[in-house]
Amino acid sequence: MADHGEVFTPAWMVEAMLDLVKEESERIDSRVLEPACGAGNFLIPVLVRKLATVQYRYGRNEFEKRHHALFALMCTYGIELLPDNAQDCRDKLAFVFNGFLGVDTSDEWARSARTVLAANIVQGDALTMNDPAGLPIAFPEWGYLGKGKFQRRDFRYDSLTQRASFEGTLFGELDHEDLFTPVKTYPLMTVGQIAEQVNL
Ligand SMILES: C[S@@+](CC[C@H](N)C(=O)[O-])C[C@H]1O[C@@H](n2cnc3c(N)ncnc32)[C@H](O)[C@@H]1O
Repeated sequence: MADHGEVFTPAWMVEAMLDLVKEESERIDSRVLEPACGAGNFLIPVLVRKLATVQYRYGRNEFEKRHHALFALMCTYGIELLPDNAQDCRDKLAFVFNGFLGVDTSDEWARSARTVLAANIVQGDALTMNDPAGLPIAFPEWGYLGKGKFQRRDFRYDSLTQRASFEGTLFGELDHEDLFTPVKTYPLMTVGQIAEQVNL
């Protein structure tokens, strides 16, 4: 415990801290990164807040509700040094997401959430910005384009941190597109296609 600073923030304090950025924490498309996310003590309440907004905006339209719930998850990111904590974080976020949609773990929405979480909750060192193999951490920038289509482009974390210093946010809108080239660009995907990638 002492080796890795595994001291976890109590729920009341997390809520009080998130209230300081209340609007951002409730916005579906605000991209939130916790660089030492542990088992998700911050990320879980962030997802809960985003999903409350999804329910409020899209609760009466099941298609839009499901797609925007997945997009809310897509905007939730973490880095965690220890593999068991990282997996715990993914599992807890998946539990919240599946519960919100009322699906079990074999459902395509749950499988697509696992694909997203495998990419968004990265095991690695937030200080060196490398994964356990010593390779640079990369994060997907997901977009929901409407009509059931998602876009994904992966960027190196070290270049995103430079980008944040330009724009003030992790994936800010830019004129400097040439400076920040994705390491991978995917074709547009449906939820079914994202679910198919679950074991890749
Ligand atoms: C103090 S806990 C906090 C967890 C969570 N943020 C919370 O407040 O409950 C710190 C977590 O960061 C992880 N950690 C420590 N050094 C790290 C590093 N360089 N990069 C990523 N994670 C790290 C630890 O494994 C631990 O799970």
